[in-house]
Amino acid sequence: MTAFSMPDKDKKSTFVKENFEKIASKYDLFNDLNSFFLHRSWKNSLVKILKKESPKEVLDLCCGTGDVAVRIAQVPSIEKLHAVDFSPSMLAVASTRLRSFPKAITEVGDAMELKTFASSSLDAVTISFGLRNVKDLRVCLREVKRVLKQNGIFLNLDVGKVESPIIGFFAKIYFFKIVPLIGYLIWGGKNEMFDYLPVSSLHYPGQKELKSILEEEGFREVYYKNFVFGNAVLHHGRK
Ligand SMILES: C[S@@+](CC[C@H](N)C(=O)[O-])C[C@H]1O[C@@H](n2cnc3c(N)ncnc32)[C@H](O)[C@@H]1O
Repeated sequence: MTAFSMPDKDKKSTFVKENFEKIASKYDLFNDLNSFFLHRSWKNSLVKILKKESPKEVLDLCCGTGDVAVRIAQVPSIEKLHAVDFSPSMLAVASTRLRSFPKAITEVGDAMELKTFASSSLDAVTISFGLRNVKDLRVCLREVKRVLKQNGIFLNLDVGKVESPIIGFFAKIYFFKIVPLIGYLIWGGKNEMFDYLPVSSLHYPGQKELKSILEEEGFREVYYKNFVFGNAVLHHGRK
């Protein structure tokens, strides 16, 4: 459906980082337009589940421009929120948005090596539209599990696979043909990052497979909630 091919595994992190650096200023607008603003309600659903846990210390990993972190920062139980991303430009937007939340700190860091976080130190870890972008999904999940306290929760929001063939057909056309065009329009020309986004979904496990991977990695209470016929999906797991 597109001529774009994924970067090799050893080049993926560099590709992802360099390209998010470039699109940081347009990222939130792109998300609003390509999802008809729906990503906001999906993110609110994640925060609603998180809130029920009354977490004190939370890590929002691959936080990007802080679009989820600003929501988490408003959870009343929060004492400390770490918003971590490896793109300084995305993080700069997050820092500005989180300025009025003193409990939130932004940190440059790699989701596959959470060097500054002690084992069993956090009540919750959240990732939104980030796991698909890491070089090695299982390595990232092991780091998430390592830094979580026993009983801590992991919430992961990302794209999913649509089960219905008919809806899936139209979803694919939209995701592969229209979404890149929205990106080009916002960007003011062709940009391979907007081709990468749909293609990366082909290399990311579907919701059932990700559930199995989470269970294999030792998470319990693994379940997921589909949004818009499975176009987006929120996974829950507990250490
Ligand atoms: C699609 S954006 C999601 C941003 C935000 N979570 C949201 O939902 O709006 C993905 C983010 O993941 C970050 N990212 C990708 N791989 C990463 C890694 N290995 N370590 C840290 N951040 C990473 C990118 O820099 C980018 O900001």
